[in-house]
Amino acid sequence: MSETLKREAAARAIELVEPGMRLGLGTGSTARHFVALLGDRVRQGLHVVGVPTSEETRAQAEAEGIRLTTLDETPRLDLTVDGADELDDRLRLIKGGGGALLREKIVAAASARMVVIADASKRVAGLGRFPLPVEVVPFGLAATQAAVEKIAAHFGSQGAVTLRRAGAVPFVTDGGHYILDIAFGVIHEPETLATALNAVPGVMEHGLFIGMCSTAFLATEGGVVVIEN
Ligand code: 5RP
Repeated sequence: MSETLKREAAARAIELVEPGMRLGLGTGSTARHFVALLGDRVRQGLHVVGVPTSEETRAQAEAEGIRLTTLDETPRLDLTVDGADELDDRLRLIKGGGGALLREKIVAAASARMVVIADASKRVAGLGRFPLPVEVVPFGLAATQAAVEKIAAHFGSQGAVTLRRAGAVPFVTDGGHYILDIAFGVIHEPETLATALNAVPGVMEHGLFIGMCSTAFLATEGGVVVIEN
């Protein structure tokens, strides 16, 4: 996806921002455009407050001069704008390609509205082409991975469950956790899979965002397509 298209999707989401709003700030290359555009608006005098979904977004938002808060100070947010790795027509999402899924889900759950910005290539008929990220605690990794592998096989995974790496070492999330990526191909029952993964001790969260997103702005060469739920 070109940076121009990402920015167009982000620009549509900026139109939803009103003075005084409490915002969740997503993570990733598309959300980065939203934070940059929000910074422009703030410098023009807009007053909002934001909760970043990653340390990366925190650094960008601070550099943009956006006033930040925490969910401890501000437990309810008006609007979260974030990217996605995949979405279907019911606005079920796979997120976590950037490794921020736990904070992203906590922030989205605290928001009255979650809006996804993406390019139309992220839209799929059935979720699962993108490997599903599962955030796990390092303690007991092999046991947790074995439990996740069993669930993956039960739900039709044709591929591997892989520990995400950053070079020679495991990738570590902002929360100090690891990520297992499950190669599914197609996920036939996302809701049931989500429930099964949530029941595994050691699993902090998974990248299925179901019933959370109400609007998606999908940028195409011909304009921005809107999906509402
Ligand atoms: C990070 C995410 C991102 O929103 C997702 O990976 C999409 O990123 P991009 O906009 O760079 O394609 O879930 O954890």
